[in-house]
Amino acid sequence: MIPGDFQVKKPTSKQLAIFGTLGVVGLGSFVAIALGLTWIVSAWLGMPVIFAHDQGPTQPIAFPHPTHVQDLGLDCTFCHRNVTEGAAATIPSAGLCLTCHQVVGDGLEQIENMREQVADDRPIDWVRVHRVPDHVHFVHEAHIRRFSGVKTVVEEWTDPNEQAGEIRLGEALRIDPSVSVGQTMEIAEAQVCSVCHGDVGSMATVEQVRPLKMGDCVDCHRDNGAPTDCTTCHY
Ligand code: HEC
Ligand code: HEC
Ligand code: HEC
Ligand code: HEC
Ligand code: HEC
Repeated sequence: MIPGDFQVKKPTSKQLAIFGTLGVVGLGSFVAIALGLTWIVSAWLGMPVIFAHDQGPTQPIAFPHPTHVQDLGLDCTFCHRNVTEGAAATIPSAGLCLTCHQVVGDGLEQIENMREQVADDRPIDWVRVHRVPDHVHFVHEAHIRRFSGVKTVVEEWTDPNEQAGEIRLGEALRIDPSVSVGQTMEIAEAQVCSVCHGDVGSMATVEQVRPLKMGDCVDCHRDNGAPTDCTTCHY
């Protein structure tokens, strides 16, 4: 017998079939378990764990908040007009944009695109970033009213009356990271947005920074003495 002549016994076709099946079943269950775990962790956190950093969708016109908010100093409510009055904040119609962009932005591609769309009577189909399901009722107005005005920063909210003059440290820090308990803040309506939306004024594309799932809504309601019965948020 020359070296190398030794051969591993060939598996029979029956053995091959068994190994093959075991392999497929094993891989299948592994993938299923991995996906299951990911799903549970995602649901728990209220946000996807795989695509951890959602960049925000690509918009039909690359609208830059920083240019308008930080550089030009426009107030959030200048464009999102309904936010202090009703349920939806609303995105302004192109007519409002054109009060400036009729003259500002000649030669800039995004501005020329916008003018063309308006000239053709085509609405701008902005892609929604935040959206609660249809069975959920959300109202901006109540939240803006509750968290704006003169407030004293407290560890835990205590004031049981409607015109609460207090804000919890947790909410206050989302508005101004340098505040501390006992301090008095005068909170403008436009500053309340950052409690739920983060610092939109510095975002090149708007992205969602807070889960705003049921657990998040209910926790905040409980902590602030707001109603938590199902019918508050569900029709
Ligand atoms: C010049 C007008 C303008 C101003 C000022 C402005 N926005 Fe916007 N905002 C828009 C437009 C247009 C969109 C839609 C395109 C996009 O999502 O980038 C938008 C989108 C948003 C969205 C995402 C909406 C969604 O689909 O979920 C949020 C949140 C938002 N703005 C918050 C703010 C806040 C907070 C401020 C103030 C710091 C502000 N905006 C100031 C015009 C404006
Ligand atoms: C108060 C005036 C004003 C309003 C209202 C306004 N803009 Fe602007 N916008 C500006 C100015 C000024 C610039 C900076 C232009 C530049 O860089 O030359 C700008 C820049 C932009 C740019 C970036 C252009 C580029 O390529 O750099 C886009 C896109 C834009 N605006 C879209 C919008 C949209 C959409 C709206 C309405 C929701 C809007 N703007 C409302 C004044 C305004
Ligand atoms: C208590 C949390 C909270 C606060 C505070 C808040 N928002 Fe929102 N915002 C939401 C939620 C939740 C949605 C999704 C609502 C829906 O799908 O109907 C949303 C949606 C939006 C939208 C897109 C849909 C719409 O309503 O037009 C815009 C624009 C917006 N918010 C702007 C603002 C601005 C501007 C402020 C501050 C003046 C603000 N929001 C304050 C939670 C908040
Ligand atoms: C930052 C804390 C906070 C978050 C987050 C929050 N809420 Fe609220 N919400 C409140 C407070 C406080 C009130 C009571 C306001 C008042 O005094 O009228 C309220 C009131 C409401 C109301 C009653 C409005 C009315 O008719 O007067 C609804 C509906 C509501 N919230 C839905 C939601 C939903 C849905 C979410 C999640 C998507 C949510 N809220 C997230 C604090 C919060
Ligand atoms: C403060 C607001 C709020 C209150 C109070 C509230 N919910 Fe919800 N609920 C939500 C939001 C927001 C969602 C949507 C979460 C998401 O985006 O998937 C939701 C989703 C749900 C869903 C669907 C779950 C799913 O995965 O789609 C059910 C069922 C539900 N709620 C039942 C209840 C019941 C029962 C109560 C009373 C014990 C209640 N909710 C109280 C805000 C609320």
